[in-house]
Amino acid sequence: MAKAKIAVIGAGLMGHGIAQVFALAGDEVTITDAVAASLDTVKSRIAANLRELGEDERAVARVTPCADLGEAVQTADYVVEAVSEDLPLKQKLFAEIERHVRPDTILASNTSVIPITAIMEGLKQRERALGTHWWNPPYLVPLVEVIETRWTSPKAIAWTMELHAAAGKKPAHVKKDVPGFIGNRLQHALWREAISLVEQGICDAETVDAVVKASFGRRLAVLGPLENADQVGTDLTLAIHNIVLPAIDNRRAPSPYLQKLVAEKKLGFKSGEGFRKWTADEQTALRSRVMQHLKSML
Ligand SMILES: NC(=O)c1ccc[n+]([C@@H]2O[C@H](COP(=O)([O-])OP(=O)(O)OC[C@H]3O[C@@H](n4cnc5c(N)ncnc54)[C@H](O)[C@@H]3O)[C@@H](O)[C@H]2O)c1
Repeated sequence: MAKAKIAVIGAGLMGHGIAQVFALAGDEVTITDAVAASLDTVKSRIAANLRELGEDERAVARVTPCADLGEAVQTADYVVEAVSEDLPLKQKLFAEIERHVRPDTILASNTSVIPITAIMEGLKQRERALGTHWWNPPYLVPLVEVIETRWTSPKAIAWTMELHAAAGKKPAHVKKDVPGFIGNRLQHALWREAISLVEQGICDAETVDAVVKASFGRRLAVLGPLENADQVGTDLTLAIHNIVLPAIDNRRAPSPYLQKLVAEKKLGFKSGEGFRKWTADEQTALRSRVMQHLKSML
């Protein structure tokens, strides 16, 4: 596909990483942010990431910080918004963006959980609006979920899928705008049961994590759940579900155990204790293990 002109709105954790991916793929990127310090440091943050990854630092020359929103988007083929997770803010931004872009510019939001439909419903041309859900860090995790609303045109979806594939990502088409899209629905189904096991006293939090990491976690990067089900047989899967599904957690609200942790200000890394206790060194070591692992999979 021909190189595209990309505009990224928000130069925070996700926005600068998304800009980096497109710039490295050869696309011209403008990036804007409401906070001057965020914009002033965006090129140096991208350069530092590229250096650490051993990638061509010259890619950063394709990123143009731009304080004015209208200027940042006016010639864009594609605009992706990665500002704070705030519905009225996102709605207001897209209304403003629509005043400056061409009629055929594709508009995307990188929200984690806000329905794309709610963000885009006020637009004049809703057929060019969709969701693109990247995972952190955007330059190390391949998946980008491309979310269709009931208004999105097939052409906008196809173009966006192609754009992300050309930038080296693994786009996945989410055909309905459902909470959690695909990845977070799967992830949080697992977290619900993980919390429930601890809550019921079946094991402690450390054991839950050890079991996942030492068993199916080892295979997950190469063996998806439905490939696995086919491998063992749908008949065996049915037999297991007949016994296991009635026993596992199916509550439709967050667990009281989780609610109690939050009420007691046991907020995880940020307070030093969540499901378990964390020293500063343990937090650094875990973060570094995750980054090393993700880099080893590039
Ligand atoms: N952090 C993650 O792991 C992750 C993963 C997937 C999706 N997301 C989603 O991506 C979006 C951004 O998340 P983040 O983690 O990068 O947040 P962040 O706080 O690091 O960055 C948000 C940026 O938006 C800027 N901003 C706020 N208001 C603005 C405005 N009016 N105009 C321009 N810029 C503005 C802020 O100054 C900040 O630099 C959120 O919707 C979030 O839910 C985050």
